[in-house]
Amino acid sequence: MTILGIETSCDETAAAVIKTNKNDKKIELLSNVIATSLSLHAKTGGIIPEIAAREQVKLIIPVIKESLKDLKNPQKEIDAIAVTVGPGLIGSLLVGVETARTIGFIWNKPIIPVNHLFGHIYANFIHPNLELEENEILFPAIALIVSGGHTDLVLMKNQSEIKWLGGTRDDAAGEAFDKTGRLLNLPYPAGPLIEQLAKGVTKDIYHFPRPMIGSDDFDFSFSGLKAAVFREVQKIKSPTPDDIKNISFSLQEAIFSVLIKKTLKAAKKYNAKSILLGGGVAANQTLRREFKLKIENLELKIPLFIPEKRLCTDNAAMIAAAAVFNYVETDWREINANPELYFA
Ligand code: KG4
Ligand code: ZN
Repeated sequence: MTILGIETSCDETAAAVIKTNKNDKKIELLSNVIATSLSLHAKTGGIIPEIAAREQVKLIIPVIKESLKDLKNPQKEIDAIAVTVGPGLIGSLLVGVETARTIGFIWNKPIIPVNHLFGHIYANFIHPNLELEENEILFPAIALIVSGGHTDLVLMKNQSEIKWLGGTRDDAAGEAFDKTGRLLNLPYPAGPLIEQLAKGVTKDIYHFPRPMIGSDDFDFSFSGLKAAVFREVQKIKSPTPDDIKNISFSLQEAIFSVLIKKTLKAAKKYNAKSILLGGGVAANQTLRREFKLKIENLELKIPLFIPEKRLCTDNAAMIAAAAVFNYVETDWREINANPELYFA
């Protein structure tokens, strides 16, 4: 089966084609096209929904065409269209949903509605992107989604059954990076820049708070960190490049220690056989390394799966992959965008 995936929930306009078979559901990536309007948002320090959606209207057709360019007869070869229906910005979501609906109608293909958050989890199922030799994901699995909009811990009982365990009560991990970046005059999105700035620093000088690290639930809270950084920046008055590097390092340490601690706690409680990461923040090499080290140091024999970097940040391949495991064929008339969609 060949699936066209479409993703427009935030500022990316993405289309991808994957191939899978009914039996082992191994996923082969045939194309993965991503256009971003990030440079437009860097100037404004964040995404302006109206601007993002207008840009997506222009990009969606060329992006889909590009993703189909290696197929001889796309209309014949594509079996279904997977599209992100939420959560996200309504104007942006509608661009993807209406385009999927139109193609579904013209080509007479079913549409598979996909929850964007599921997409970040199923990025781990795209073959052969697994980082470990041992590439079979065993269940139960614990998945941590860390993106600009979300920080969630979920339990996967099997390939398709997902139970939400906890999430952030305020800012998401990526949002904490982006908002702190603004305090430090870094352009949006600050996450990747903070990662670069922190490189070479080895001492956690500021030791920012680790919010909710010991709480007996699986929730997170990152909005207080921004305030802690703000206080430090005020004390310093005009931070030097070295101050900014040190703050970047300490901020990463604070956020990552909470993420790792809570994920491993969930893994132990639910006897996890695998741990999966997903979302833009999972592209961070320091987080990837620290997660692996911690698992090794604790001698936990739980394999860790992290999608390759380009599949951590928003993309359409993960949306098509999620559709394989949550395959609900829907008529084009019945597809609707739902910006508030979450875990059931
Ligand atoms: O998953 P994603 O592309 O979009 C959402 O669904 O939100 O995640 C974007 C978020 C942004 O907050 C960005 O700052 C963060 O992921 N991010 C990173 C890195 N790359 C992206 N954060 C830390 N380190 C990175 N390397
Ligand atoms: Zn995302």
